[in-house]
Formats: sequence, C-alpha cells, structure tokens
Amino acid sequence: MSANKEAWGSRVGLILAMAGNAVGLGNFLRFPVQAVQNGGGAFIIPYLVCFLLMGIPLLWIEWTMGRFGGKQGNHSTPFILDSMGKLRFWKYFGVFGIFTNVAVAAYYCYIESWTLSYVFHSVFDTFSGMNQGQVADFFNNYLKIGKSTTGIPYEAAVFYILCLLLNTYILSRGLKGVEKAAKIGVPLLLIFGAFLAFRGLTLGTSGASAANPDASAWDGLNFLWTPQFDSLSNPTVWLAAAGQMFFTLSVGMGTIHCYASYLKSKDDIALNAVSAGFMNEFVEVVLGSLIVVPIAAGYLGIDWVKENAGFGMAFQTMPYLFDQWGAYISNIAGVFWFGLLFFAGITSSLAMGTPWMGFMQDEYNFNRKKAAWTFGAVIAFFGLPTVLVYQVMENGVVDQVLFNEYDYWAGTMSLVVFALAEAVLFAWIFGIKRGWHELLSGADIKVPSFFKGIMLTITPLLLIIVFLGSLFLPEGGDWAVAISGLFDGQGWTLDNGSIIQMLQNSGIKAQIAAATDANVIARLERKIVLVNIARLLLSTLFVGLSALVYIAYKKRRRNALQTASV
Ligand code: PHE
Repeated sequence: MSANKEAWGSRVGLILAMAGNAVGLGNFLRFPVQAVQNGGGAFIIPYLVCFLLMGIPLLWIEWTMGRFGGKQGNHSTPFILDSMGKLRFWKYFGVFGIFTNVAVAAYYCYIESWTLSYVFHSVFDTFSGMNQGQVADFFNNYLKIGKSTTGIPYEAAVFYILCLLLNTYILSRGLKGVEKAAKIGVPLLLIFGAFLAFRGLTLGTSGASAANPDASAWDGLNFLWTPQFDSLSNPTVWLAAAGQMFFTLSVGMGTIHCYASYLKSKDDIALNAVSAGFMNEFVEVVLGSLIVVPIAAGYLGIDWVKENAGFGMAFQTMPYLFDQWGAYISNIAGVFWFGLLFFAGITSSLAMGTPWMGFMQDEYNFNRKKAAWTFGAVIAFFGLPTVLVYQVMENGVVDQVLFNEYDYWAGTMSLVVFALAEAVLFAWIFGIKRGWHELLSGADIKVPSFFKGIMLTITPLLLIIVFLGSLFLPEGGDWAVAISGLFDGQGWTLDNGSIIQMLQNSGIKAQIAAATDANVIARLERKIVLVNIARLLLSTLFVGLSALVYIAYKKRRRNALQTASV
C-alpha cells in the first residue's frame, strides 16, 4: 500500500483538471466527424440519451470507486477493483484501466504533436497563399516522415518526441503540475473556442466564392441541428453515439478513478462529477459543433464536408479557410485553433499518464520523477511505431495502419469492456446499496433516486447491447435484414467491421480478393502483417501490465503475512 499522500489543491483545480481530462481532441475533432458521418441531426438524440443513461451513471460510478479506492491508498484500477470484489480476477480486469491509457496515449500524443506543429506553422505563415488542395497535401506530406514540405527532416517524429517530453516533464511535477496545466489550459481553450465559434456563427454566406457559390455556414449548422427521429431505430447510429460518449467523457478508461482517488474522504463527488460532465458536454455540443463544420461548410459547401469528413479534416481545411480571412488574422486564428486543440489534448494526455504513475508509486515505491519518466519511455516504445510505420495508398493518401488499430482496440472496444465490468461490479457485486451510500456521502446535491434503478439495470444492459452489437455487427449495419435472414434460415452475415471479422482481417482479405493490380495486392498483404504487429504490441502491453499486477499482488500478500506474524 502506498505512502502517496498527494491531493488536489482546491475544488476549482479539481474541477478544471477533471474537465481538462474530459475535454480533449474528442470534442473538437472526433465529435463533428461522428455527427456528420452519422447523419448530422440524426446523431444528436441517441447521443444525448447515451449521456443521460450511460454517461452520467458511469461518471458517478467511477468517481465513487476512485474516492473509495483512494481512502485505502489505491490510485489505479487493479487494486481499486480488487478491494470491491472478492474474486481474484477483478484486479486483472483492472489492468484495462492502465492498459487503455498507455495505448491511447501512444497515438493520442501523436495527434497532439500535430497541433503543436501546426501552431508553429501558423506563426511562421507556412500556409499563406496555399489553395485547399495544397493544404491537404501538406498534411499528407507531414505524415510521411522525412518528406516534409518545409524541408525540416523527420518533422512528425521530432514534434512527437517534443510533445512526449513536455507531458513527461509536467507529470514529473506530480498532481500539482497537472492541476496547474489545467488551470492555464482550460480557460485559454474556452476563450479561443468562443472566438472561433463566434466566427462560425457570424460567417453566414460571406465565405461563398466563385468556386463554391452556394457555400453557407448555416448549412453546416442546420445539418448538425435538425433532429431526425427516424435515426432512433438505427443501431449503427446508437453504437457510434455510445462510442463517442465513452471517448469524450473519458469513462471506461481508469483516468477518472485515478483522479478521484486523490480526493479526501469527505469531499463531494455527486456534484463534482456532473459539473465536470456537463462542462464537457457544453464544450462538445456547443463549441465542438460551431467551429469546423460551419466554417468548412461556409467556404467549401456542406456536400464537400459530408464527403470529406474524417479525423484529418480539421488539419486539411482550417489553415486554408483561415487564410481567406486575410494576413495576421489568419495567423491569429491558426494559433487560436491549433492552440486550443493543443491545450485540449495535453490536459487529456496528462490524465492518461496518472494511472501508470499512481500504480508504480503505490506498488513499486517509485517516486514522481521515476514514475513519470518510465511512463514517457513506455509511451515512446509503443507510440513511435504508430508514427514511423504507415502505408501510402495508391491515391497518395497515408494509411496509418498501426494508429488505426490502436484506436479501434484500445480507444474504442476496451472502453466498453471495462465500463461493463465496472458497472456490474459496482451495482451487483459491491452492491448498489453500498455504492449509493458511498456516492451520497459528502454529497452537495440530492441525487435523484431513480438513478439507482438506472445504474442497476439500464446502464449495464445498454453496455451489454453495445458490446454484443459490435461483436455481431451484421453486414452493412442492417439489423432488420440480418434478423429476418435469421428466421428465413439464411443465417447471420457479419459485417467486416464486426469484432469477429476484424479479428480475422476479413475486410482486408476481401479487398485483396477484389484487387487485380499486383502492387495493390502486395501492399494489402503487408497491411495484414502491420495489423498483426499492432495487435502483438497491444497484447504484449496487456500481458506485461498483468504481470506487474501479479507481482504486486504477491508482494502485498507477503507483506500482509509478515505484518500478521509480527
Ligand atoms: N476525453 C478525451 C477526449 O475527448 C480523451 C480521453 C480519453 C482523455 C481517456 C483521457 C482519458 O479527447
């Protein structure tokens, strides 16, 4: 058990740190893309329902588990879970709460490093005078290490390492460093965001040009905000909404447990949890939807946005759009936008470092510095392959194979599995009565008691549905056809995006079967090798962490026996 006596400095600091943890690249990059890809207004209702029925209950569950664990000197999920359930395997479920953070941080810091580099390029006017295609090419070239258009060799790798060093340094200052970063980063990102959102709102049709005469920012906003009720019966949209909810709130990851474990036993969690959650939703739903989509639609048209929605969209378009605003303003807008992304990113990646640090400090007596620098080293080991290894597709676009693989298994699926495990543990094993009592102790608000019922039934049930839905995703995401096929005796045809088919690389194999060009086939075959390497790395990480938990467990037992015999 640990001698770690760190604690949050103030309530404001705690809320900002928790909000900084949640508010991240997910709010500004992932949310708009998910919304656009899932039909705009069609996405919003399932998304908000997921917030109420899964997001808020999980926030309360995780804050409660974290504070409970912290009271007994546990600051990471393996031994927090262990203290709540009798069976031995719970602590290995808890490994997810470190594993996911390391694996996600490995590629998350990479995106974060792009934002740092783009701040730099905005200051030095790299994008001025480029057309949209050139800005998009710049991004693709940036990812190809050593072929950067600026002539700086290995730019992507250099910025990645810089970004890691910065994270590691702040982490080495302990909780105080994290709190300070949040106190600076969160207010700044809100100010930058408000400025850009105002611009998105007031752009109207003024961005239209001869090339895009019909472009209007309103089209972007209308598309996102006209609710479409028919989407309620589309499970694919629900799966996407649930996935976004996990990612954006940082639930199912172990970071909230870790942050909450540094609370004092009488501190409120009921109000703090919803405050941080609502703050995240405000930033996501309001600021997140007022920037990229309306501004891009205002200059390029909504059809362009729908066709090109993807994670890189913000890097491929925004510098060009800002450039239309004229000299200086374009530099400022660029610094605001990429600076905002950077602050959003770093306050989240710092959060991902804390479970590892908490664990190594508790179980292996590491000091802060050693815990932080080993984290940096582990991230570099697992993250550099996501930077250095990629494929260039026939159309010149970079396919970041390892990166995508990490995002799918660690950044999406692991969250669902872990959230399901903790929801069951909390409500059914630890017991909802005890859990509820823990949640209410020190509470500054009355928690509506129907949430007890929700935590007991609806939340775990929804999680099971999300998990099974991903496991058995039917072809084309068409559940009605799949279910009727089952009754017609045609069986169930799995989609290549279902977990089962993903494991067998069915999607890539189908592409190989359809391809005629020998070069394409060779590239796709190499892609399978890369996918398998990514999975090997992830499995190694999980097994390694489990071994650390096992050794720590043995150590604890030995110590307990010694104390007992004295
Ligand atoms: N919630 C963060 C985002 O929206 C991502 C994150 C996940 C941060 C898990 C910490 C832990 O980008």
